[in-house]
Amino acid sequence: MAGVEDKLLDHNYDGIEEFDNPLPQWWVMLFILCTLFGVVYMFYYHVAEIGDLQLQEYANEFIQDENAPKSETPKEEFTKGEMFAPMSDDKAMLEKGEKVYQVNCASCHAKDGGGGIGPNLTDDNWMHGGSMTDIVWTIVDGVPEKGMIAWRSILSKQDVIAVSNYIRSLKGTSPAAPKDPQGDLWDGTEKLPTDAN
Ligand code: HEC
Repeated sequence: MAGVEDKLLDHNYDGIEEFDNPLPQWWVMLFILCTLFGVVYMFYYHVAEIGDLQLQEYANEFIQDENAPKSETPKEEFTKGEMFAPMSDDKAMLEKGEKVYQVNCASCHAKDGGGGIGPNLTDDNWMHGGSMTDIVWTIVDGVPEKGMIAWRSILSKQDVIAVSNYIRSLKGTSPAAPKDPQGDLWDGTEKLPTDAN
């Protein structure tokens, strides 16, 4: 609808002409509000880092879950018996371990073990020890205050042993986006489950 004061712009594209009208005010308001929202959002999540991003939210939910009733099987149970022996070249064991890993662990430690919320599992540095016993115990006890739950109530003993072997098989691989090493360099000493922790 052409108003009396509507000014016709002086171009003509195949018969299509255009008035020099301002954008509707509601549209301009929406644009300004969206821009302001974007600035506030970026400041809140990425500059001041006040808000938790998705992955941290996810870890927080795991921390809350830690208060749920859980199995009290002592961690020593998981390192008892012949099943425990590190057998990282057993193909069936590693395949099972990889499945357990991709379903339960990849969200925090990355699909290739390079780390994310959780530490890099492919390097030689460990916060809780790199021996088979240490790894099994870290998995079953978890580090609840950091978002790594105690997996003893979720995974069977077979699963824990398999995933531990799988993790050890990742050592020395080259993940796509490796997280910087955390913890101490492991000297390669296998700790026996009978050793005091
Ligand atoms: C919700 C996130 C999350 C999930 C899921 C998760 N982890 Fe972790 N994991 C962590 C965090 C965080 C740490 C570091 C704890 C710390 O700072 O002490 C960690 C630490 C570890 C460590 C010790 C590393 C070291 O340096 O000593 C191992 C081993 C480990 N995780 C294995 C697993 C396995 C196996 C699974 C799956 C069954 C798993 N994690 C699932 C978050 C997670």
